[in-house]
Amino acid sequence: MAIVIKTTDDIARMRTAGRLAAEVLDFVAPYVKPGVTTGELDRVCHEYMVNVQHTVPAPLNYAPPGYRPFPKAICTSVNHQVCHGIPGDKALKNGDVVNIDVTVIKDGYHGDTSRMYYVGEPSIAARRLSEVTYDSMWLGIAQVRPGATIGDIGHAIQVRAESNGYSVVREFCGHGIGQKFHEEPQILHYGKPGTLEKLVAGMIFTVEPMINAGRREIKELADGWTIVTKDHSLSAQWEHTVLVTETGYEVLTRSAGMPAPPAFIQDTQQETRAGEPAEA
Ligand code: MF3
Ligand code: CO
Ligand code: CO
Repeated sequence: MAIVIKTTDDIARMRTAGRLAAEVLDFVAPYVKPGVTTGELDRVCHEYMVNVQHTVPAPLNYAPPGYRPFPKAICTSVNHQVCHGIPGDKALKNGDVVNIDVTVIKDGYHGDTSRMYYVGEPSIAARRLSEVTYDSMWLGIAQVRPGATIGDIGHAIQVRAESNGYSVVREFCGHGIGQKFHEEPQILHYGKPGTLEKLVAGMIFTVEPMINAGRREIKELADGWTIVTKDHSLSAQWEHTVLVTETGYEVLTRSAGMPAPPAFIQDTQQETRAGEPAEA
């Protein structure tokens, strides 16, 4: 299957799905406090998606080849968990950091985004890892324009992570997204400038670097989903869904409560790049 180039109509629907996914992350933020379980976070998000947004949680029962169906509506990955953590009855405690990854389906289209949350006060090390990972995601996004390559994105991310002494997870990557949750192309979070596929206006994909404080090796837990660092070092991840526009990029997973882009991102809302207002 080739890379899907989205039509104007597809893009309008992807904007809606993206915003809704980001709004779930806004909604859940006040619930992330010491004592809450990840299962409770799943429950409130699931109920918000289904009853308030009238969206479908894409992870629930998602079962790619070789996987058992994912049992919950969101992914919650705590501390040394890298990604795909299954919400459960373990309570979060002060100093934990958790990635919440939300994918909604609206009108047949997917929006996929994740953020890091601090439970109470994070350690200096955890805050720094989260901030460097955030900057690396945005440096990757800032590469996006027609004619740039997938290798340009990965390279920007890798340089920022490794120059801070961190490592990039290789086994999981960003992905094309649309009427399917995961489609072509794969967006590697490491690489060399000018290599791999050229970007074309109308492509939509995620940028979602997983960055480890220690070594890059990972392992899968016996639940068949949760990925952890092999050395048990902390891991962080941020994710946006991004459209390639004629002049650059448009981040589709924007919401009122999203964290501001780093100062080095110039036109924060991409109005000039997208050629239209950021909010409909
Ligand atoms: N949202 C994840 C991603 O960014 C995928 C989660 S698959 C699930 O690609 F089944 F674990 F939800
Ligand atoms: Co994704
Ligand atoms: Co995701």
